[in-house]
Amino acid sequence: MHFDRLLWILLLSWVVFASTAAKNYSITTLDNGFNVSIGNILIFQHLTTSPILFVGQGQIQYYEFQGNFDIKDYTEERVEMRTFSFINDSDKDYVKFTNGNYTIIMSLQTTDNHPLVVEFNDTGPIHYDRIWIRIKAESSEKVFGGGEQFSYLNLRGKTFPMWTREQGVGRNASQLVTFYANMQHSGGDYHTTYYPQPTFHSSRLYYCHYRGSNYAVLAFDHPEFHEIFVSGKVDRFYFNADSTPLGLVQKLSSFLGRQHELPEWIYTGAILGVQGGTEVMLQRLKSAQNSKVPVSGLWIQDWAGVLKTSFGSRLFWNWQWNSTRYPGLNSTILGLKKQGIRVLAYINPYLNIEGSIFQDVKDKGYFVMNDSGQPYISDFGEFNCATVDFTNPASYDWYKGLIKTNLIGMGISGWMADFGEYLPASGVKFYNNESGEVLHNTWPVLWAKLNREAVEEANKLGDVVFWTRAGFSGTQNYSTLMWAGDQDVDFTYADGLPSVIPAALSMGMSGIGITHFDIGGYTTFGTLGLRRSPELLLRSAEAAIFTPMFRSHEGNQPQANTQFYSSPEIQSAFGRLAQIYVHISNYTKFLVKTNSEQGIPVQQPMFLAYPDDPNAWNTTYQYMFGRDLLVAPVITTNVSTMNVYLPNDSSVWVYIWNESEFQGPGYFMVSSEIGKPPAFFRKASTFRNLFSSIQTTFPYVPFIPNPSTATPHTSNTSQSSKTSHTSTVKSLASSFYSIYPHLFYIQYFALSIYSFHVCI
Ligand SMILES: *[C@@H]1O[C@H](CO)[C@@H](O)[C@H](O)[C@H]1NC(C)=O
Ligand SMILES: *[C@@H]1O[C@H](CO)[C@@H](O)[C@H](O)[C@H]1NC(C)=O
Ligand SMILES: *[C@@H]1O[C@H](CO)[C@@H](O)[C@H](O)[C@H]1NC(C)=O
Ligand SMILES: *[C@@H]1O[C@H](CO)[C@@H](O)[C@H](O)[C@H]1NC(C)=O
Ligand SMILES: *[C@@H]1O[C@H](CO)[C@@H](O)[C@H](O)[C@H]1NC(C)=O
Ligand SMILES: *[C@@H]1O[C@H](CO)[C@@H](O)[C@H](O)[C@H]1NC(C)=O
Ligand SMILES: *[C@@H]1O[C@H](CO)[C@@H](O)[C@H](O)[C@H]1NC(C)=O
Ligand SMILES: *[C@@H]1O[C@H](CO)[C@@H](O)[C@H](O)[C@H]1NC(C)=O
Ligand SMILES: *[C@@H]1O[C@H](CO)[C@@H](O)[C@H](O)[C@H]1NC(C)=O
Ligand SMILES: *[C@@H]1O[C@H](CO)[C@@H](O)[C@H](O)[C@H]1NC(C)=O
Ligand SMILES: *[C@@H]1O[C@H](CO)[C@@H](O)[C@H](O)[C@H]1NC(C)=O
Ligand SMILES: *[C@@H]1O[C@H](CO)[C@@H](O)[C@H](O)[C@H]1NC(C)=O
Repeated sequence: MHFDRLLWILLLSWVVFASTAAKNYSITTLDNGFNVSIGNILIFQHLTTSPILFVGQGQIQYYEFQGNFDIKDYTEERVEMRTFSFINDSDKDYVKFTNGNYTIIMSLQTTDNHPLVVEFNDTGPIHYDRIWIRIKAESSEKVFGGGEQFSYLNLRGKTFPMWTREQGVGRNASQLVTFYANMQHSGGDYHTTYYPQPTFHSSRLYYCHYRGSNYAVLAFDHPEFHEIFVSGKVDRFYFNADSTPLGLVQKLSSFLGRQHELPEWIYTGAILGVQGGTEVMLQRLKSAQNSKVPVSGLWIQDWAGVLKTSFGSRLFWNWQWNSTRYPGLNSTILGLKKQGIRVLAYINPYLNIEGSIFQDVKDKGYFVMNDSGQPYISDFGEFNCATVDFTNPASYDWYKGLIKTNLIGMGISGWMADFGEYLPASGVKFYNNESGEVLHNTWPVLWAKLNREAVEEANKLGDVVFWTRAGFSGTQNYSTLMWAGDQDVDFTYADGLPSVIPAALSMGMSGIGITHFDIGGYTTFGTLGLRRSPELLLRSAEAAIFTPMFRSHEGNQPQANTQFYSSPEIQSAFGRLAQIYVHISNYTKFLVKTNSEQGIPVQQPMFLAYPDDPNAWNTTYQYMFGRDLLVAPVITTNVSTMNVYLPNDSSVWVYIWNESEFQGPGYFMVSSEIGKPPAFFRKASTFRNLFSSIQTTFPYVPFIPNPSTATPHTSNTSQSSKTSHTSTVKSLASSFYSIYPHLFYIQYFALSIYSFHVCI
């Protein structure tokens, strides 16, 4: 007996020892430094003449303007950690760096899923409050990921702060709309995003993931190294390697979490963003169905009611069915469900202090507090809201209960789970006593987790969906899908339709393989001519065919925009595109399933499929929709042809609109009129029949807009869900006219009409 037990213990300890002691990285000492590599990939090269580690002191201030943050970093000291010595151990390696009163011990180890995990121990006596770490780079190297990045797919040459926030309006200082938006600190920049994530993939076939949520900056602008800045206490870094970029993405997604498959009903048609009450919603449905638009759902973001402000109507953030605005909604939902049409709604983490729910939640003490122990109240543009404290288990459960009762309990099948990125860094107190600075990036993850648990506890996962825009590491585990937030209703690369493509691809590289976007964009500024054209609406719908979910949005100024219901011609052109989305959905479903099971994103950058093709590594605006369809959405205005790059494949490429065959590699010009989104399938695809029947089932119909009906129409049933953009937009005009007073009179008439009838 005794002997047996001893043997077992010996055996077990041998297994434990063997699995932890394996070091899948190597350290090579040099005359004045050392190299750390995974296989033949050099990760760190420390030389006393060019150290990898710097520590220091300073102050960071986060100025918040309605979800836009201006982050000012004052570094007071930056010390090079040149001197080092090794402290060796059987299962970890330690490198001790010293300079004056700073001592930092870097530990290296192999864990179950990562060949190299690096941690830092600040042993003092003086403690740093910031750290910079350099990872070896090559000048030709490319870098991808960073969460959701709208302006660049390859991040090389730029610096990316990791702080969830509004993406900004315009996002490009050389554009007029950004200039106006910046008067309200809301213009954004190339790196501003709702969903940053300190993860990157290198073309040298490794990834690096930083675990902490503290403010960090990924700098990829030096030819010889990448420098990662972390404020506060530094957390763990994970490194992984693989022989292919796709293998790396799969390893990352198995580590960070994979998304569940979408409900079947999503694929039966378009989810139409409509508003205005039960009657309007049913009218829109009828009209769409008359134009043969397949409809899977009606998304009514104003289900909780609207609020009159001097600027128009806004959503009433009081998360329950508003029977004044939507009479009989409960039975309408049931009736529509019988016809195979779902109803979807809208929520966010705030509660309007004028609403019926607020007082009770305040009495329970469930809000984020301010420094005087009162609910922290934010002005969202003439209405004030408190933020539910998700760090308090009781408030968290309370909000979950609200979702289960007021949404799922009413038969609502999905919702936009908006916001998550506004949490201030200071002046706020949380139940768990953490600082706003530390919680800020984790807030969207908590928000998605809460929504996910509500769906799971109601036993509705796979039937109910919610879509989030804000995110951070961990969102992968919870969000049922992402959407790309608020694009401008234009074709600009920085913030218009084109930007949704790098957004989806960089999310795929960061472990989120299921995303979609608002068809037609969101941010509208009618008085400045920023309105959605019929062309934008249809080009945007074309692009949405090759995404997992096809959902329209009216935008923040519905009357200024072309809508799918603006004219019979637009409605039927839109309907044809939605039919194509439905037609290929067997394939889309297969891609979504593959993402859930294997972590292969539904929309993939070209280089994941063609890593040996140098052109595939610098293609940003075309992508692989699964392994068999190559898509190059039209993202510029007024074009009827498109030059598409086709890589060399063992199969030939077939253009979906006329079955012409092309052998890559090369650029090929194809026709791309409105209604003909350029897409090519691999002739060897098992889905070949599905793809080749697109042109026969949905023959190309030239789109001829009727000028009298295609222009923006009038109606008073619209409102805007969002705040920052809308309050930005409303104040933009006044800032603008204070600088250019004479223009005030020219535009006065138009402006006053918008102020009264359009919801801003
Ligand atoms: C510690 O490890 C380093 C790197 O592997 C090696 O060069 C050095 O000789 C080791 N030192 C001791 C004392 O084992
Ligand atoms: C360390 O890395 C450098 C840079 O890649 C390389 O030139 C050198 O050969 C490496 N040294 C050793 C001993 O591996
Ligand atoms: C280390 O800290 C002590 C006490 O604060 C100070 O007197 C000393 O000058 C510091 N040394 C260096 C090298 O900064
Ligand atoms: C480490 O290397 C061993 C042997 O090659 C391999 O079996 C194991 O999967 C590796 N582990 C990691 C985390 O890379
Ligand atoms: C940090 O180093 C100190 C001193 O060597 C040690 O006591 C402590 O356990 C280390 N902490 C961690 C988290 O490794
Ligand atoms: C509906 O919303 C309005 C605000 O627009 C509010 O005054 C009213 O109380 C709400 N009704 C219900 C039933 O919630
Ligand atoms: C809908 O709600 C009303 C109360 O507002 C209730 O009287 C009615 O029975 C409900 N109908 C259904 C089908 O649940
Ligand atoms: C805290 O919020 C309350 C309202 O909830 C407000 O009256 C008070 O002025 C705020 N205090 C501070 C320090 O911001
Ligand atoms: C937060 O701090 C307060 C005051 O120090 C303490 O009473 C409370 O227990 C702390 N809460 C948690 C969750 O640690
Ligand atoms: C910003 O706008 C300018 C002028 O339109 C354009 O040349 C540039 O490429 C844009 N930058 C980005 C990142 O979109
Ligand atoms: C999709 O798959 C279903 C079930 O296998 C099949 O009945 C249907 O015909 C397929 N649709 C198309 C367009 O191929
Ligand atoms: C992409 O890279 C290849 C090879 O490095 C180069 O020939 C090509 O011009 C680049 N294409 C674009 C669109 O930048």
